Amino acid sequence: MSAETLDRGLVLDAVRVTEAAAIAAWGLVGRGDEKDADQAAVDAMRNALNELAIDGEIVIGEGERDEAPMLYIGEKVGTGKGPRVDIALDPLEGTTLTAKAMANALAVMAWAPKGTLLNAPDTYMDKIACGPGLPAGVIDLDKSPADNVKAIAKAKGVKPSEITVCVLDRPRHAEIIASLRSVGARVALITDGDVAGVIHTTDPATGIDLYIGQGGAPEGVLACAALKCVGGQFQGRLVFRNADEKARATRLGVTDFDRKYDLHEIVRGDAIFAATGVTKGALLDGVSLKDGLIHTHTLVMNSSSGTVREVRMKRKA
Ligand code: FBP
Repeated sequence: MSAETLDRGLVLDAVRVTEAAAIAAWGLVGRGDEKDADQAAVDAMRNALNELAIDGEIVIGEGERDEAPMLYIGEKVGTGKGPRVDIALDPLEGTTLTAKAMANALAVMAWAPKGTLLNAPDTYMDKIACGPGLPAGVIDLDKSPADNVKAIAKAKGVKPSEITVCVLDRPRHAEIIASLRSVGARVALITDGDVAGVIHTTDPATGIDLYIGQGGAPEGVLACAALKCVGGQFQGRLVFRNADEKARATRLGVTDFDRKYDLHEIVRGDAIFAATGVTKGALLDGVSLKDGLIHTHTLVMNSSSGTVREVRMKRKA
């Protein structure tokens, strides 16, 4: 396998990994315990990864080694015999959604050839994203949300009032939301889960044209792996709240703290992206149990072939 391509067998392997994490987390849906749900997903994802014939290294994971005993940044996974891959993962994207049995919780991961993913620290990231088929440069993180809406509206040949923007419902986004509404845009607020929020911009059925706001940097890398497969545009800038966060970034090789990254700087080569629904959402059905069988629903995409698959699995509970 060359350094820049990914073995096709990794597509189904990715599905197995996110299925395992989703099924484990599903056991904790609605139990009110975010940590337990996350731990169940982490354990299952790690076990599934370690069964695979890969020489994998976690680059986006559960945190740094001293704070995350499992799936920490730099942890080696797999049998060690097989393709060398960098791995970005979020075993449970939406811990609160799971604990409260709310929609849209996912188990997510991406493979990429060694050395091609941004080693993002576990900080926040300012993000903007839109789907495919629009002129390059139509969105710009340095322009106001209102101006981005106008640019998207012009490119789509519609009025700003016909544009819908997905935003995480957080007090820190009050100014962004006011700017969006000042030009009449619709604001679709989500309580959690901005990987799905970004992916929604790529699917006309969701009605979401644009994603704007500040969320986790690791989630930004995962969202970029998805966009790399289906097209679209993304810009992100790391946000540092204190010296410790800057030190984390420095340890991962970040030298320019103000850098604006675009999609192809965050995911520099090919990627395989997989997400399995934990709870039912706009993107995927959740895990369910019917007639003694566990059912899962997974989205898996491969940028090198441009394939997008939905995989439904059932097996004995
Ligand atoms: P968790 O699954 O770790 O709870 O993250 C969910 C999430 O909503 C992400 O999708 C998003 O990037 C981040 O949290 C936003 O962070 P915060 O909740 O601190 O605003």
